[in-house]
Amino acid sequence: MKIKKVFSYMGNKGKFYKEIKEVFEKSKKKKFVDLFAGGLEVPANLYIDVEADIFTNVKDTKMELLIKLNKKDKVFNLFEKAVTEVYQNIPLSSTRNIYNTDKITFEKLKENYLKLIENVNEEEKEVLILLGGVAGKSRSLSSNFYSEQKIKRLKDYLEVLKKLDIKTEFFNEKWQFSDSFIFLDPPYLLETGAEGKKGFNYEGDWTEKDDVRLVNFIKSNLEKNNIFMIFGSLNNNLQHLIKENFPAVKFEIKKYKRSFFGCSSERAEWYCIIK
Ligand SMILES: C[S@@+](CC[C@H](N)C(=O)[O-])C[C@H]1O[C@@H](n2cnc3c(N)ncnc32)[C@H](O)[C@@H]1O
Repeated sequence: MKIKKVFSYMGNKGKFYKEIKEVFEKSKKKKFVDLFAGGLEVPANLYIDVEADIFTNVKDTKMELLIKLNKKDKVFNLFEKAVTEVYQNIPLSSTRNIYNTDKITFEKLKENYLKLIENVNEEEKEVLILLGGVAGKSRSLSSNFYSEQKIKRLKDYLEVLKKLDIKTEFFNEKWQFSDSFIFLDPPYLLETGAEGKKGFNYEGDWTEKDDVRLVNFIKSNLEKNNIFMIFGSLNNNLQHLIKENFPAVKFEIKKYKRSFFGCSSERAEWYCIIK
């Protein structure tokens, strides 16, 4: 995968990129539609790897601001300046390295980061939290905040983002597409872990009724030469609805490990193809 997003994004499908690309290529469709594109890693890589029209939709405040400021060429400079402000006279080395070897200096970086995000405007603050904060905790500096490799990856990622066709709308079951490969990775009402804990905390208040709308959307677009690839967490509401409405559909289970602060846990998600 050539383009790597440089922050963690809940539900990121980059980890299944190879398989998604394979299924898309086999479909022979010329249009790839990603209606819940989140961190955009999958469409960004397809943009580089395959010849296709790529249409995406992102509904997430921080991502939308990143996209908006990036169109004005403001994100890369904002981040470079942030690195300078956070490190000040601390010699530049990866934040991960400092985090692992020198907790006092890491605390200083954290302090500088907190000062910085209070001294920029609200839009810049949201973008810097996305790029440099711990996911879900705006008040913490991520140990992935800076590395030489991150700067390079960020540049490449932002360049591709500028070229993508990105809408920022709430899902609407009346949307119509034809001759397309439609990738659907809606908010999960269940966690991907074995315990099936309720609720990834996405914005947008996705509910079980929205899962029903999604199924209606699939039905009304099915006769238009589209293929759907849909992801979800095991046994979630959407999986049950798909089984009910499309009984012939087969589910593939994808297992993976997620590590978070050194703790690794077994995760699993399903995907299915509807055509
Ligand atoms: C499972 S995530 C998608 C992750 C994405 N495929 C990736 O690889 O990063 C679901 C996405 O749907 C967005 N979302 C939440 N409510 C929405 C709504 N009503 N309409 C459209 N998107 C919504 C969330 O903000 C989140 O980005």
